[in-house]
Amino acid sequence: MAGVGYIIRCKAGLAIRRITHSLEKQKILADTQFLKKKFPQLEDYKTFTQQYRDRYLKDYEYYVENVSCAGHAVSFEQVLFMRGLCDLIKPKRVLDLGSGFSSYIFRDYAASGKDIVVWSIDNDSAWLQKTKDYLEEKNISSDNLVLWQDFIKGKREPFDLILHDMGDMAFRQSELNQVLNMAKPGGLVILDDVHKRIYGRYLKQLFKRSNIRYYNLHSFTYDPLCRYSFMVHKKK
Ligand SMILES: C[S@@+](CC[C@H](N)C(=O)[O-])C[C@H]1O[C@@H](n2cnc3c(N)ncnc32)[C@H](O)[C@@H]1O
Repeated sequence: MAGVGYIIRCKAGLAIRRITHSLEKQKILADTQFLKKKFPQLEDYKTFTQQYRDRYLKDYEYYVENVSCAGHAVSFEQVLFMRGLCDLIKPKRVLDLGSGFSSYIFRDYAASGKDIVVWSIDNDSAWLQKTKDYLEEKNISSDNLVLWQDFIKGKREPFDLILHDMGDMAFRQSELNQVLNMAKPGGLVILDDVHKRIYGRYLKQLFKRSNIRYYNLHSFTYDPLCRYSFMVHKKK
């Protein structure tokens, strides 16, 4: 039979998990409300993102079926949010870390405006080549496709918008500080796959310790594989 000490520890653990869960829910709600207030277009999110759904869904379905796979490619929910965000904040310099379908949608956004620069980076040269082939197949710019190891050697101007979705979770964590430093003051950094427990917990602790402002994008980016993202707002 389980001892009293064991039962108390289990109950305490359960209570802590419930409190954490409820605080998390409150943050999601507060962040969603904040973003909807800042960008009223997000209020009716389904209507706002319909134009992107119409534009990219067929391409996305083809991509996950024939080029990558659903587990590796960025989620379609993330695609809709990022592409909408581009139209809302109109970033001039975009850094796409972890090439793939994201490279296509950022470059499609760049083609819709003037003087918009997109860099797509990967830590896997074979995958980078695959992205290049895909972009060429789509007849869209394949400039500025660079290996991470080479990209960090050069001095770069900071970026307005960064997606950090490159390599495995250990790699993302190890490169995180460097990535955050690449954002402009006031810039935004999207960190995907924060549903991964260790990574998500690491990020929350880091943000708290370093007083980094971030939004939980669960309401916008949660997908059928339970993935979602955070968005850091770099101090001005
Ligand atoms: C989550 S993926 C990046 C997805 C990318 N941002 C996109 O929009 O499709 C993370 C890393 O996995 C690798 N990768 C992407 N797709 C892959 C695949 N189908 N098979 C193996 N590795 C892949 C790349 O090196 C990439 O940096």
